[in-house]
Amino acid sequence: MGRGVVLAGFLVVAMLACLRGAAATEYVVGDSRGWTASPNITVGYYDEWAANKTFRGGDTLKFVWNGTHNVAIVSKEDYDNCTKVISVFYGGEAFSVTFPTDANGPSYFISTVDSDCENGQKLAINVVSSAASITALSVLVLVLSSIMAMFMN
Ligand SMILES: *[C@@H]1O[C@H](CO)[C@@H](O)[C@H](O)[C@H]1NC(C)=O
Ligand SMILES: *[C@@H]1O[C@H](CO)[C@@H](O)[C@H](O)[C@H]1NC(C)=O
Ligand SMILES: *[C@@H]1O[C@H](CO)[C@@H](O)[C@H](O)[C@H]1NC(C)=O
Ligand SMILES: *[C@@H]1O[C@H](CO)[C@@H](O)[C@H](O)[C@H]1NC(C)=O
Repeated sequence: MGRGVVLAGFLVVAMLACLRGAAATEYVVGDSRGWTASPNITVGYYDEWAANKTFRGGDTLKFVWNGTHNVAIVSKEDYDNCTKVISVFYGGEAFSVTFPTDANGPSYFISTVDSDCENGQKLAINVVSSAASITALSVLVLVLSSIMAMFMN
């Protein structure tokens, strides 16, 4: 019994360590192109960039750029309209946002400089909560640990 419990405990710790690593991903928006505008990108570039990615609570979006750009977190309406909102995040040539672990739903980002937003410097993503998958995995770990513990007896 003793060895089984120790092994089970070790498994739980190992799985939790994996989960912590897996739960938080940092995405550089636009990869090597960064957060940029025409002529470096065309309309739809950031939609394509986001298309194959699953953004989860706890993940970080890092915007990096050269030149005159900014980041504004906006509503869907302002995203659709490329509204030049007042509250804007400059942060030099980089800006990071980390989603709360229980984040769930869409987020919209635009640049409010010139016509950059109209020309494609806008990002819409959907964040899915990481809570559900972590709960499912935790249950799986508990079940596996119990089975291991039984065999070690
Ligand atoms: C910014 O410029 C530097 C120097 O040219 C370059 O190495 C870097 O990749 C550029 N970053 C972006 C996001 O364009
Ligand atoms: C286009 O990319 C180059 C190289 O990274 C950069 O120096 C330039 O500022 C970018 N242009 C815009 C409009 O972001
Ligand atoms: C998205 O994934 C599909 C299938 O894996 C691939 O064909 C497509 O090129 C990917 N798109 C982007 C923008 O990476
Ligand atoms: C967005 O644009 C539409 C159509 O031009 C307009 O009806 C709507 O009022 C605008 N919304 C905002 C928040 O500016």
